[in-house]
This record gives sequence, structure tokens and C-alpha cells, in this order.
Amino acid sequence: MSKAVVLGAAGGIGQPLALLLKCNPLVKELSLYDIVNTPGVAADLSHISTPAKVEGFLPADDGLKKALTGADVVVIPAGVPRKPGMTRDDLFKINAGIVRDLATGIATVAPKAFVLVISNPVNSTVPIVAEVFKKHGVFDPKRLFGVTTLDVVRASTFSAEVLGDVSLAPSISVPVVGGHSGVTIVPLFSQSSHPLPKDFSESSLQALTTRVQFGGDEVVKAKDGAGSATLSMAYAGAEFATKVIKALNGEKGIVAPTYVNLNADKEGGDALKKEIGKSLDYFSTNVELGPEGVAKIHTLGKLTSFEQGLIQTAVPELETNITKGVSFVETPK
Ligand code: NAI
Repeated sequence: MSKAVVLGAAGGIGQPLALLLKCNPLVKELSLYDIVNTPGVAADLSHISTPAKVEGFLPADDGLKKALTGADVVVIPAGVPRKPGMTRDDLFKINAGIVRDLATGIATVAPKAFVLVISNPVNSTVPIVAEVFKKHGVFDPKRLFGVTTLDVVRASTFSAEVLGDVSLAPSISVPVVGGHSGVTIVPLFSQSSHPLPKDFSESSLQALTTRVQFGGDEVVKAKDGAGSATLSMAYAGAEFATKVIKALNGEKGIVAPTYVNLNADKEGGDALKKEIGKSLDYFSTNVELGPEGVAKIHTLGKLTSFEQGLIQTAVPELETNITKGVSFVETPK
């Protein structure tokens, strides 16, 4: 049983994510922190007849410190979401500072907690958390994760649609690697548990790949200025948090794609760098989770030439995003 903390808990993602965590029997304590409304959200959730004890905190009276004390898992969906026409990178200006300040709190109060970053741009916010932890001398790459699960969830759902049977969606598993924005999102349909139809053309594969890469835009457009994915993200975030909590509790063999620092498993990380032909510090790939966090970084395995092309396109953009996050902490602007 674990203590889970949500930072940004009153937001579009934060509230349904908190609801799902409150319903998770592995969660013993749930702390909700935001700059607004957490007392109300916590009071509301606290009436649900599940074991987790819920408390809400605001910045006043050392709220962040109180929320984080004793945390095992900290999930961060704090920050502004996209509006139509915006890329995730456009959010950097505001979200980078928010994530840096929250990371400072975690590094000080709960340096051993597993940190799950949802706030965009994930490709840059994860390096920001790492740099803050390094500054405090507490960085353990095994305990830091960028949440890319929504890309995985979308790949399963859209594959099931292509296969003409939406009831298959929960059992379809497609590794999605690279990063979490546009062309850095690389679904490996050739490794799907449920292969695409034999006569699936290259142009259909391109269209399906683009749909996974830019699936978030469908939601941003449909919400028409009212934000980006929140409910599907809460589902995805809760799925990933549950996997991390299960691994923390000793369950073996849990593997999930997530954006990690490749030093978390030197052997696996080095092999992956060789595969992609570039010494990046961060990449999303299948990761085996254990009680200490990252247990093993899986390599990409056999790729089609189409997938190799996607990786080659992803790498330079990912490199720029990573550098942007790292230099923000070194020289904040
Ligand atoms: P939202 O605006 O509905 O909620 C954000 C919450 O963060 C608000 O309640 C706000 O008060 C809070 N907040 C702002 N500054 C804070 C601070 N310093 N400390 C604590 N809380 C603070 O936004 P939404 O839709 O929940 O999205 C949140 C983030 O998640 C965005 O950056 C969005 O781009 C990202 N996102 C990530 C996805 C992923 O796949 N990783 C998918 C969808 C969204």
C-alpha cells in the first residue's frame, strides 16, 4: 500500500486522475496539491467508500511540503494545456518553471519518491526534473518517468478500429517509442500483439502512424479552446501509476513504454543508443519496472525500414527538446 501524490490535482487531468487513484486499492494515502481548489476536490473524493485517505493542500502553510511528506509516487499534471494551433513545445515557457519549482519541492521533501511527469512538453520537462534533482544531489534515474501511456492507449484503440473490432482494444499492445510530441512519437506496429491486416498498404500505415502521433490534436480541436486530452490522459496516467505501484510492491514482469533517462540501466541504455545511432540521454521505450523503479531498459528490437525512418526523423527533434530542458535549469530565462 502506497502514498500517492498528485501535483496539479484540481485540473482537467488532475481531478479524474485523483478519482481513479482513490479507487485503486493499492493506494493507502492520496495527497492532492494545486494552487487552487484542492480542499474541495479532496472533500468530495473523501466520501468515496474506498480505503485511500485523501487530503488536499494549497501553497499556504507549507502545503507542498505537507502533501509530499512520505510520498512513494508523485504524479505531475500541473501546468497549462494546449489550445488549437499550439504545439506541446509552445507550452514550455509556462510549464518549465512550474515543473522546476515542483521538482525542487520533491527533491527536498521526498527525494526517493517515484516521479511520473505528465506536464508537457514531456520531452523537455523530464530532463528539467532530472537537472533539479542533480542540483540537489539526489538524482536517481531509475525513479523518474515521462508518462507516454496515452500514446500507447491511442495506438491500441486505433489499431482495434482498423481491425474492425473495438472490443479487441484492451488486449492490443503496441510499443510506442521515441518521445511524446508529434514526430517523436513512434508506434511500432510491426511489433503489435495483433498485427495489422496483411493487405494494409504503406499509405494506410502512414495515416495510422500520423493519427497516433497527432491524436492529441483531434482532442484539442474538438474541445475548441477548452484544453487538451484530460479524461483519456487520466485513464492512461492511472494505468501507468498502477503499474509503477505494483512493481514497487514487488510484482514481477511488468513492462511498459515510458520516457526515461537512459542511464537508469546502463547496459540496456547503451544498447539502445547504439540502435538509434545517437547518444541521447532520454528516450521512450519498453521498460521493465521493479521495486527500485527502472529494472531494465529494452532495446527497440527488429524494426521495418518504415519504422527506422520514423526513428531517424524523431532523433534530432528529441535532441533539441532534451537540450532545451537541460539548459533551462542551468540558465533559466
Ligand atoms: P488544466 O489547466 O486543466 O490543469 C492544470 C492544473 O495545474 C490547474 O488546476 C492549475 O491550477 C495547476 N497548476 C498550475 N500551476 C501550478 C503549480 N505551480 N503548482 C501546482 N499546480 C499548478 O490542464 P490539464 O488539461 O489538466 O493539463 C495539464 C498538463 O498535462 C498540461 O501541461 C498538458 O499539456 C499535459 N498533458 C499531458 C499529456 C501526456 O500524454 N503526457 C496528455 C494531455 C495533457
